[in-house]
Amino acid sequence: MSFFSRYKDYAPLRSDASTTKSNSRKYTLLLTVALIAASGILNVVLYSKLSKRWPVPLDNYQHLNVQPIVNEEFLSTIGPLDPSENAIVTSLYTDSYATAIATLGHSLNRVNSSAGRILFYLPEKVSPRALCIATSSGFVPHAIERIPPPHGGRGVYAHFLDQYSKLQLWTLADRGIKGVVYLDADTLVMSNFDELFALPYGFAAVPDVYVDEQGFALAFNAGVLFVRPSRAVFDDMLAKIATASYNAHEAEQSFLNHYFGAEALRLPYVYNANLAIKMRKPELWEDVRREARIMHYTLVKPFLAEMDNSGKTVVEMRGMEANVQNKMSQYGGKFEDELKDWVEIWRETRRTYADAFTQCSSKSASLPS
Ligand SMILES: *[C@@H]1O[C@H](CO)[C@@H](O)[C@H](O)[C@H]1NC(C)=O
Repeated sequence: MSFFSRYKDYAPLRSDASTTKSNSRKYTLLLTVALIAASGILNVVLYSKLSKRWPVPLDNYQHLNVQPIVNEEFLSTIGPLDPSENAIVTSLYTDSYATAIATLGHSLNRVNSSAGRILFYLPEKVSPRALCIATSSGFVPHAIERIPPPHGGRGVYAHFLDQYSKLQLWTLADRGIKGVVYLDADTLVMSNFDELFALPYGFAAVPDVYVDEQGFALAFNAGVLFVRPSRAVFDDMLAKIATASYNAHEAEQSFLNHYFGAEALRLPYVYNANLAIKMRKPELWEDVRREARIMHYTLVKPFLAEMDNSGKTVVEMRGMEANVQNKMSQYGGKFEDELKDWVEIWRETRRTYADAFTQCSSKSASLPS
């Protein structure tokens, strides 16, 4: 039987009635599908209208709160601190940060900070000249033992390889120190923050800010820390840096976020005024900068040679102003004002400690062998 004859055989079965019936079934099906689709779309539209996803409040920042950040009445109850029990600590791991630390020390003197000053340094990595410069404005040198990154430093960004040494802060308990404010060497103090030493907590820090999609993070930035030193906490942390699970890239910052993640007190952004805020939300930066206690030169470091984030090249004092001037065009000139702030305090530092700096220049600029 040929195909055509078969077709002929079957053809009569397709009566007009059955064609209409199958067509109407098709329409019903189409209508049902269309209704389901329409209802689906309506649901999505309504859901997104009713449950509008707001940006995080900081990305939606408005100048709302105009109250002082620290309660004035409370401030007046804090007398001068005992500098043998309360210390501001920074660290020198490479010569290129020495001038920055001299400037940081002067910025602390300007605001009459009443805490003691301690400079952590790695004796094997710092020249006598750099140590002399860094301590010229009041920091007292304190040699520390380097804490190597776990697993031979695998996965750690090269410029963070010495950063686990920061954990030595907790060993200051052995010297009777009860409160520490740690400042990274790329910070600058704009006004007094003695009130931090009155905190009843063991650990406080400011949340981190990123220019990329991470934005206003929940994790804190380890460039400014309040710490109550404790030998027991130090030993406990050291026992865990190699076994805890965390992103190795950001070294001690990542570890500390895991160790203190649920207990860290969140401090206002003015205690770690990170330049990244200006990129992320200029309205917030206006308020933070006006009230800033501590500026943090994260994205642009005025004192480092251009294109040298590893800090291997030392910018000489006589070339420092020109160096900062060169940096003003970075990020389309966005940080000109902040760089001017730094240069202004640097100029004062250079004038104020001119004699000390002259003495430093006679010291060796090579690393101890
Ligand atoms: C710091 O103390 C000096 C001397 O007591 C005073 O003249 C100056 O105004 C104080 N500076 C600040 C910022 O409080």
